Amino acid sequence: MLKKLMVVFSLSFIVFLCPQMSHAYDPEYYQEPYRNQVHFSPEFGWMNDPNGLVYYHGLYHMYYQYYPYGLLWGPMHWGHAISTDLTHWIPQKIALYPDAQGHIFSGSIIIDKKNDSGFGKDTMVAFYTNDRKGIQDQRIAVSHDEGQTWEKINEPIMKNPGIKDWRDPNVFWYQKDKKWIMVLTTHNKAMFYSSKNLKQWTLMSTFGPTDQSKGVWECPSLMRLPVENSNQKKWVLQISRTEGSPAGGTGVEYFVGDFNGQHFIQHRKLKRRDWVNYGADYYAAIPWNNLEGPRGERVTIAWMSSWKYAERTPTTPWRNSMSLPVSLTLVKMGDAFRLKQTPIYYLKPKDGHIRFHHKTIQPSTNILKGHKFKVGEIKAEFDLSKSNAKEFGFQLREGNGQYTRIGYQVTTHRLFVDRSHSSNFHFNSDITGVHAIHMNPTNHKIQLHIFLDHSALEVFGNNGIRVITDQIFPRVNNDGMSLYSSGGHTVITSFVLQPFTSIWGSSPLVSNIKKWQTIKGIWADSMSGKVGQTEDEGSILSNRMGKNFVYESDVTIINRNYINKGTGTGGLIFHSDKVAKNMYVAALDIPHKSVQLIKVCNGKRQVISQKTMPLKGNQTYHLKVIVQQNLIKIYLDRKLMIEKQNPTFHQGLVGLYTFQSSSAFQNIHFTSKP
Ligand code: FRU
Repeated sequence: MLKKLMVVFSLSFIVFLCPQMSHAYDPEYYQEPYRNQVHFSPEFGWMNDPNGLVYYHGLYHMYYQYYPYGLLWGPMHWGHAISTDLTHWIPQKIALYPDAQGHIFSGSIIIDKKNDSGFGKDTMVAFYTNDRKGIQDQRIAVSHDEGQTWEKINEPIMKNPGIKDWRDPNVFWYQKDKKWIMVLTTHNKAMFYSSKNLKQWTLMSTFGPTDQSKGVWECPSLMRLPVENSNQKKWVLQISRTEGSPAGGTGVEYFVGDFNGQHFIQHRKLKRRDWVNYGADYYAAIPWNNLEGPRGERVTIAWMSSWKYAERTPTTPWRNSMSLPVSLTLVKMGDAFRLKQTPIYYLKPKDGHIRFHHKTIQPSTNILKGHKFKVGEIKAEFDLSKSNAKEFGFQLREGNGQYTRIGYQVTTHRLFVDRSHSSNFHFNSDITGVHAIHMNPTNHKIQLHIFLDHSALEVFGNNGIRVITDQIFPRVNNDGMSLYSSGGHTVITSFVLQPFTSIWGSSPLVSNIKKWQTIKGIWADSMSGKVGQTEDEGSILSNRMGKNFVYESDVTIINRNYINKGTGTGGLIFHSDKVAKNMYVAALDIPHKSVQLIKVCNGKRQVISQKTMPLKGNQTYHLKVIVQQNLIKIYLDRKLMIEKQNPTFHQGLVGLYTFQSSSAFQNIHFTSKP
């Protein structure tokens, strides 16, 4: 099945593709503090693991663990985004929703090209773990429209055999034996199953435990990778581990070996454990299915956070990003094999390029003084044979006493990121501030390829033989940088700094109102318009003010019954004070099935007029308020519902309102009248 696709990897060039996507600067969309500009994050809500990565008909699909109703992990959905270049992502509708059967945990997607499953040729089949109050089984969902809509087959294909943690099915085609393989993880081992029809699975073997460490194995994947400096191919088993990573906490370990269709046999038991990434923020990495590079490279992406603090990071209305995707190969080093990662990116360069060659950096000098840098890449090479420094490197996001150091310690041969002075945010006492790993020079040279984003840093050492990925949360306006050498001088043979423009286009919100200010709740621009969420009362005010006006919008109150949160009320605020404490709301109340005029006085709500209508969640209505000469008129789908003489507030701001619900507003239009 893994037909070789000629994937154009940008291994060392910066290419700009994707002319169909607009890159207009937008003051609201994806511009919140810490919002990464070249890494993927959802429009709003909580995200963890990448799921169901699959390439099909020119599109890269990325599904992910998603909770759209808040900023904490919750009943899991599969969110969805697509890309034509693995860099620019277009948000899509939620693919899988939890229901009474359970929550949709991590998994993978394959293309059933020969109709092995009987669901039809070229069906996309998603394998996921269904979690019902901690009882986990494996299920499938199918898509007949190339991944846009999904139908859950609710019967488990694999019932729980009495194992507590048993999850994250990763499925791929094994050409040699013409069968499907699934890897699952449990407590401290991986389990390998096979199937001919994608529905009945037979346990073939297990691998692990490999050490005595605590924690659980999660999100496995097994891939065959080319070895760059020999003609061999080797199998790599990637395992996400909840404890014991080098930085402390969660991380991805890998094992190199062979797979004979039944067993994974580790090449050589190593004294030291091999981790894919030595930073604190790299987890749940899995590969794209149906995608191989020209030499058989595989492409993976990871969740760029740590379970030790993911629910506390200072971001809103979204939480957590993905790493950059990388292309994987192996390199033989002595008797062992090491993973090599090459970042894939098609980013558009921005002004501010710096380039120089052969400079000697003296201690206590900074030749980058005065340069500002927040989003982009640095490529640098240092020559140790001409240097006598003990340590050299960069300090990024400098300012207000903060900095993040990316350096190399010459005497100990250690590549490191020191984020202990990077942020006001306290990551976690279990996590070290310095994330370091041994890296030998090649021909006396050290190469650093660094990606900097608003709250992330990825360092690829010596062509990706070592990688460190970390989140940082510096003061937003810190943009200073330095190149340092300590304990002696350092010769830098080449240096290129290239800032990048954002991968995010303009907001999909259609409105003639351009400025909004959140008062309460979580509000975000999204493909469904302005979305507000809260368990209580949420409001956002615009800068538009009126006495007489026409104010209208399409309104959808989102049905959250499947997570037992139900539907609530949403509507248009008008004649409001600056803090949304005294105002009117023209509202759709789904539980009471009525269109309402609500008066809020000192924060107290009172329905002053209403009309019963068979309103439903998830249905889009057109709501319009006209105020003229002290008469308030409310229309639903252009029919007059309420007419009421204005009793209290006579002018003020317009805004949006949501109560015990998630509400979406699109095509918002305001016209002031004389
Ligand atoms: C890993 C993980 C998976 C699980 C999912 C739940 O981060 O714990 O094992 O399927 O997250 O969201």
